[in-house]
Amino acid sequence: MNIKDRARKILGSMHDYSVEELKEALIKLDVQKSEAEAWLEAPGLRPYYRKLLYADERVELLAMNWADIECAPHDHGASTGWIQVLSGATRHTVFQVEKGHLPEALFTEIKKEGVLLYAPQHGVHKMGREGINPLITLHLYSPPIRGMKVYDLKKCAACIVSSDCGAWWPEETRQKIKEINLKNFT
Ligand SMILES: [Fe+2]
Repeated sequence: MNIKDRARKILGSMHDYSVEELKEALIKLDVQKSEAEAWLEAPGLRPYYRKLLYADERVELLAMNWADIECAPHDHGASTGWIQVLSGATRHTVFQVEKGHLPEALFTEIKKEGVLLYAPQHGVHKMGREGINPLITLHLYSPPIRGMKVYDLKKCAACIVSSDCGAWWPEETRQKIKEINLKNFT
């Protein structure tokens, strides 16, 4: 069964969308690097190319093919999720954030192929490719991400972006739902 059919079968029949159930569903999907690769294109000048593999009103599954450019710090709005490293390694930074202020980096960790990363509701993080091996990741979120907030630390600003925008400052005005000016901690 191909990846989209498995996703429809497994994700489409979930009854409970708790953190543990989401993790179990991602493990059960058992997506291989080669399967995800078949759906991915080159990222071009953006941090990653994103491909939506499954979505319903409760859950979405995306694969991402990374360039050697890290994404901007961002949250996933009210969504919770898991990220699986299918290939390569990622440099993952977690931030703390206070309303109205710029996020501050708490720690950076390296996560290799096979690892699952938990992405909590309203948690701010950024990711990038570590090393030269291609980085491919698989993302399962519930509910589907709406109202993702992307930060520009140099501009001291945040932007709520539309659901077709990735974790980077929007290039098109229509992708900017709301722009917010922030205060620096110092
Ligand atoms: Fe993210």
